[in-house]
Amino acid sequence: MSSQDIPEESLPAEQEHERGAVAVKEDPFADPGLPPHKPRIQDIDERAAKRSERAVAFMFTLSMLATIGFIASYVIFPVDKIVYIWPFGHVSALNFALGMTLGIALFCIGAGAVHWARTLMSDVEIADERHPIEAEPEVRAKVMADFAAGAEESGFGRRKLLRNTMFGALAMVPLSGVMLLRDLGPLPEEKLRHTLWAKGKQLINMNTNEPLRPEDIAVGSLTFAMPEGLNEHDHSFQTEIAKAALMIVRIQPDEIKDKRELAWSHDGIVAYSKICTHVGCPISLYEQQTHHVLCPCHQSTFDLSDGARVIFGPAGHALPQLRIGVNDEGFLEALGDFEEPVGPAFWERG
Ligand code: FES
Repeated sequence: MSSQDIPEESLPAEQEHERGAVAVKEDPFADPGLPPHKPRIQDIDERAAKRSERAVAFMFTLSMLATIGFIASYVIFPVDKIVYIWPFGHVSALNFALGMTLGIALFCIGAGAVHWARTLMSDVEIADERHPIEAEPEVRAKVMADFAAGAEESGFGRRKLLRNTMFGALAMVPLSGVMLLRDLGPLPEEKLRHTLWAKGKQLINMNTNEPLRPEDIAVGSLTFAMPEGLNEHDHSFQTEIAKAALMIVRIQPDEIKDKRELAWSHDGIVAYSKICTHVGCPISLYEQQTHHVLCPCHQSTFDLSDGARVIFGPAGHALPQLRIGVNDEGFLEALGDFEEPVGPAFWERG
């Protein structure tokens, strides 16, 4: 069948033109252009625009209140308070309140921004033609002008209520993160500078749990001790023993080179912190002949016959010595606390 046999209305446009005196070829992929812009109610009714503005400000204000609620929850709810909330069941009141308030604070900022963009910012569609990547000075000037116009159209300068409440909400949300620092626990204050050792506290053998007498310490032996009253079943045992652990050796008094060490010893028995001054490993290796103790972590070596000074390794300073004596019942006792913080040299700088 030839084209002459097809009804005229069924012919494609190209062929339709070919039927005329001048054949005109149409681009089948021609840009259809943008649909005509339809103004929103807020574009033509100032009262509707004001309503939207109030709705956005309400959401930003709600976000601020939720952030205050987040902070208040931290103060109000104890960590162990459990409440029943349908449909979640039994939950931690603190976690629930923190989650809800932080969720509301973030959601309201997002919802407010979206509502602002959809109802108040310009929604005129603009076609941007492709252009070379390198921008001409005139183009850059145009971009800056467009940016300024966009800022003007967004109402950033004009709608001060929106701008201020949004800044308020954005500024307050980070406060939630600051409150989370509370989970790091109370400040250590002076606790890291003191141990359980005090004048009159007996030295307890950590293996036998019995008070130590001078005759229990033989030359060449290494004994570990803790202060009396410390029970390994106590909640704070690990915290306290990590500071108070002691190692005791007996050295012939004439082999002790350091005068203060000799004065703080009892009949050649010297007591030193067991906690390495490098990064806090427990020291446990003792050389009987040299009176050196070795930290197994990074091989710092201390000379117990010379004030426990460092003779090798990365440790920054000598082990703290505990001054000891013997009480009326013949047991070894402390004559005070360590005179410097135990453990890593870090604490000396505090
Ligand atoms: S912790 Fe002792 S040498 Fe590093």
